[in-house]
Amino acid sequence: MTYQRRFALLLILTITAIAGFLFHGKSLQTTWRHIPQAIGLGEHYPSPEEIADGSNILPDLRDSRPSPDDQHLNSKGHADFLPGTTKPAGEKYTRTVVLARSQENTTWLESELSDLFALEEWKHAVYVVDDPRAPFHPPKNKGHEVMVYLSFIIDHYEKLPDLSIFMHAHRFAWHNNELLNTDAAEMLRRLSPERVIREGYMNLRCHWDPGCPDWLHPGALGENLEKQEETLLARSWGELFPLEPIPAVLSQPCCAQFALSRERILALPKSRYVYFRDWLLRSELSDYLSGRVFEYIWHFIFTGRSIVCPAMHACYCDGYGICFGGEKEFDDWFEIRFRMRESETRLSEWMYREKMIEEAKTEGRVEEEAELVVPELGRDVELRKEIKRLQEELDRRKDRALERGQDARNRAVEAGRQWREGDGF
Ligand SMILES: *[C@@H]1O[C@H](CO)[C@@H](O)[C@H](O)[C@H]1NC(C)=O
Repeated sequence: MTYQRRFALLLILTITAIAGFLFHGKSLQTTWRHIPQAIGLGEHYPSPEEIADGSNILPDLRDSRPSPDDQHLNSKGHADFLPGTTKPAGEKYTRTVVLARSQENTTWLESELSDLFALEEWKHAVYVVDDPRAPFHPPKNKGHEVMVYLSFIIDHYEKLPDLSIFMHAHRFAWHNNELLNTDAAEMLRRLSPERVIREGYMNLRCHWDPGCPDWLHPGALGENLEKQEETLLARSWGELFPLEPIPAVLSQPCCAQFALSRERILALPKSRYVYFRDWLLRSELSDYLSGRVFEYIWHFIFTGRSIVCPAMHACYCDGYGICFGGEKEFDDWFEIRFRMRESETRLSEWMYREKMIEEAKTEGRVEEEAELVVPELGRDVELRKEIKRLQEELDRRKDRALERGQDARNRAVEAGRQWREGDGF
């Protein structure tokens, strides 16, 4: 045993003895029971070797609390986040898809993207939140995906891929991008690593609703029943960001799926992530609520800005290669789709009325039949034609957008950034 180890062991024994004296055994037990066990205390006492290594010790909140003279942090307590620089055109980016799951079936990840995961640069880390024997699992099943995302960062801080992509377990979800058929596999396939590198932090959802442009007002006085998170955030803020004033507004597209560059993760010291996770482990908020808090602050953690609402058309174009040509053209597509859906609604109303009349007729309910509004003859055929026409128009425009998106220059122009001959995406 080295001198340092012997000294560390002695120190631990002394501290334990003093603590034992102060808390008289019983109360010490109760105190310790509040400490989450999964990070090494409680049932599992760390071995002297682990203690000497500094591993497996409950992080001390006071140590990792940011201080104004932390070299990574500016006077406001957050890092100066700078745009990233992409590699020369055509070079590969390593990436890991981090998924949080419980019982959900995530085989889609490998089956839909088998061609990509066959490549050396694509990897995944599927965390099973409630199975401590799974190859990837968080220290405790608490705080939903937040625990998983932070655990991945903490566990891989020294060996991060170029991109880390954080997602939920479901392949199809309403909050996935509509123009990518709300399909997580398609989002992963099309996601531009260059945009992630440039932006550092990229919310995978392009649509502003819900979340942008002006969502939570954590400083608001009085409770807004529809947004109870406001009060919640106001209370958690001081614990999470002790050096930062509470922002008037917090906004980003919803739903906590995002990609990060290595550089952006490293812009904060590892101790910050440990601190955040520790807050989560200790939080007395319900799982749901503590998870929710982070949904509103991920962008703040990684950009230092309280509002991160990139233009939707730029997000789709630069981020996924679907380029309508500009904001107006992007809006037009959704306007056409709105009209198509209106026609669909009218058609189903027409069909419903038709059905009611038919039923009344066959059942001989003459009086009732007389009161029903008779659907206009031939209107259904017209509506069907209109729907078909609009659907074809939408498909045509989307195909053109996909084509446009294959050209690196188009993407740069639509996202409003400089591009020179020879630049990649
Ligand atoms: C998971 O889903 C796939 C289809 O995507 C299916 O083939 C497989 O049987 C499912 N596995 C389980 C355990 O349900």
